[in-house]
Amino acid sequence: MMKGVHYFLATLALMALASSFASAYDPSPLQDFCVALDDPKSAVFVNGKFCKDPKLVTADDFFFPGLNIPRNTTNPVGSNVTLVNVDMIKGLNTLGISLARLDYAPYGLNPPHTHPRGTEILVVLEGTLLVGFVTSNPDNKFISKLLKPGDVFVFPIGLIHFQFNPEKIPVVAFAGLSSQNPGVITIANTVFGSNPPISVDVLAKAFQVEKNVIKELMAPFMGSKS
Ligand SMILES: *[C@@H]1O[C@H](CO)[C@@H](O)[C@H](O)[C@H]1NC(C)=O
Ligand SMILES: *[C@@H]1O[C@H](CO)[C@@H](O)[C@H](O)[C@H]1NC(C)=O
Repeated sequence: MMKGVHYFLATLALMALASSFASAYDPSPLQDFCVALDDPKSAVFVNGKFCKDPKLVTADDFFFPGLNIPRNTTNPVGSNVTLVNVDMIKGLNTLGISLARLDYAPYGLNPPHTHPRGTEILVVLEGTLLVGFVTSNPDNKFISKLLKPGDVFVFPIGLIHFQFNPEKIPVVAFAGLSSQNPGVITIANTVFGSNPPISVDVLAKAFQVEKNVIKELMAPFMGSKS
């Protein structure tokens, strides 16, 4: 009896110790940045979102309809991503997960991009999809596969990846992402279409090409930012 109580207390103490160690870690960022303020009165954002009073929560806080509807893929790349993150489902706040529907026109491309805060797991429902990602420096190994319906593929957090429809049948895929706000950095748009633009001299040196090549690469993204 006494022995049991001691054992219980020791376990409790260990658990308290473990949780105090765990809370010593820095929190994971839930947006691009969260600049610190000394005066809490002037603070507007927290890491993530504020929480609704649980008494006022309804089923709609965890609901998003219409992901069965094909999206319009008539655009320069021939693909359309419908991301269902914490902005669409407020109930996702702090839960570390989100979902996307991906539509690809014939020969459509979801261009090279990264998710700074999430790993992605994708399943193909219809059509054929060529997918790939590249590992970080110095190896930069290209890992690629041709997927058919039912195939599942993983894009590890932060790595540059793409999906391309190599056939004339439209493709539908769905993907889960391990963040309430995984973020998207599309390489071409980010590097050649930033606002304001990165200097042509910087990009010419970075890509080891003439400046007019950089200007040509920038052209499609000019005027696309407001
Ligand atoms: C994606 O599809 C939706 C609905 O079909 C459309 O409103 C939106 O403009 C499309 N996005 C792109 C980038 O084409
Ligand atoms: C798809 O988007 C294109 C370009 O914005 C537009 O011209 C076309 O009417 C849209 N198609 C549908 C079915 O909404």
